[in-house]
Amino acid sequence: MEEHLTVGRVAELAGVTVRTLHHYDEIGLLRPSARTVGGYRAYSPGDVERLREVLAYRRLGFGLREIADLVDDPATDAVAHLRRLRGLLVEQRDQAAAMVMAIDRELEARAMGIRTTPEEQLRVFGPQLYDAIGAAYPATRRTEPRIAARIWEALGDARTVLNVGAGTGSYEPPDREVTAVEPSAVMRAQRPAGAAPSVAATADNLPFEDQSFDAAMAVSTVHHWPDPVAGLREMRRVARRVVVFTYDADETSWRRFWLTRDYLPEFAGLLAGWPSLAELARAVGGRAEPVLVPWDCADGFFEAHWRRPEAYLDEHVRRAVSVWTRVGPEAERRAVDKLRDDLESGRWAERNRDLVALDAAELGLRLLVSGT
Ligand SMILES: C[S@@+](CC[C@H](N)C(=O)[O-])C[C@H]1O[C@@H](n2cnc3c(N)ncnc32)[C@H](O)[C@@H]1O
Repeated sequence: MEEHLTVGRVAELAGVTVRTLHHYDEIGLLRPSARTVGGYRAYSPGDVERLREVLAYRRLGFGLREIADLVDDPATDAVAHLRRLRGLLVEQRDQAAAMVMAIDRELEARAMGIRTTPEEQLRVFGPQLYDAIGAAYPATRRTEPRIAARIWEALGDARTVLNVGAGTGSYEPPDREVTAVEPSAVMRAQRPAGAAPSVAATADNLPFEDQSFDAAMAVSTVHHWPDPVAGLREMRRVARRVVVFTYDADETSWRRFWLTRDYLPEFAGLLAGWPSLAELARAVGGRAEPVLVPWDCADGFFEAHWRRPEAYLDEHVRRAVSVWTRVGPEAERRAVDKLRDDLESGRWAERNRDLVALDAAELGLRLLVSGT
């Protein structure tokens, strides 16, 4: 009984009423495993862990019945719950950041006497971060042929290919039978005419039979998934080969890039809790190969302009990269102002003199390849 907490103490610690805990007991959601001699409910460390999961799912807006199914799932242990909860909370934070951005823009537009369209006003309530920011994507995001060549080579002789988090389809091989998975309606709507058919789904729950594709690919998307490891396992389940273009979240990666090191340290916060490259490689059962970013990279992803720093002053360049929305408007403004000052004063050029001689840079981008 020593390790048990009384119902009153648990209620106090968790910030809920004793009545709530009684209710959870009555509906079978959280049955305390013991009673005190006086007959009061007593909660073991295991009960408290379960309560933590219940309350976290509750805060995310799940109903009590759904929560019961989630916490009773025998396939999900405490660590898996924490990972899932973390992913869902990060998703919520990203959506809040996107809403702040959209509201700021509408305030700016109104100040200039411009009315936003009903579509623009409602887009922010879409279910995905990319429903809010995706319209800005095609301005600078396109196929980088040298990276595409690496991905297509890694696909080997695969005839049928699933592209997960496909977006507008920048890296889909033209000579194979491709099926795209893309959760954002805004992104799906921007796929060019004649692009591969797309299915509205998410990586952690792919609506396909086991081993139904020769290969599955995912490009610049894994960092958006609430549970990257679960998503990569899903890819492995539905395909015999998996190819993933992603980022090594090791500290050395972001410290190596002047933009994150000197101007946007908030980037490191976005990586907290992100699985290591080794964990990602393990989830696909494969190896990681470095992908250098060419100095004139055609796809405007976050690191693309490492030798063209002025590009980051351009709002269009930033809006097509989710990092800038996810760090929030204050960090963005501060980073851009500081970069502008340093470009004008020559400080950036002085600090980054060595870059001019490089044609390609190692900035932590990796290709994970597994399977036969
Ligand atoms: C940076 S874009 C990359 C798009 C495309 N792969 C490319 O390389 O151009 C990230 C994409 O991941 C999608 N995404 C976000 N969450 C996802 C999830 N849970 N499962 C699958 N895709 C997701 C977004 O909607 C967005 O289209």
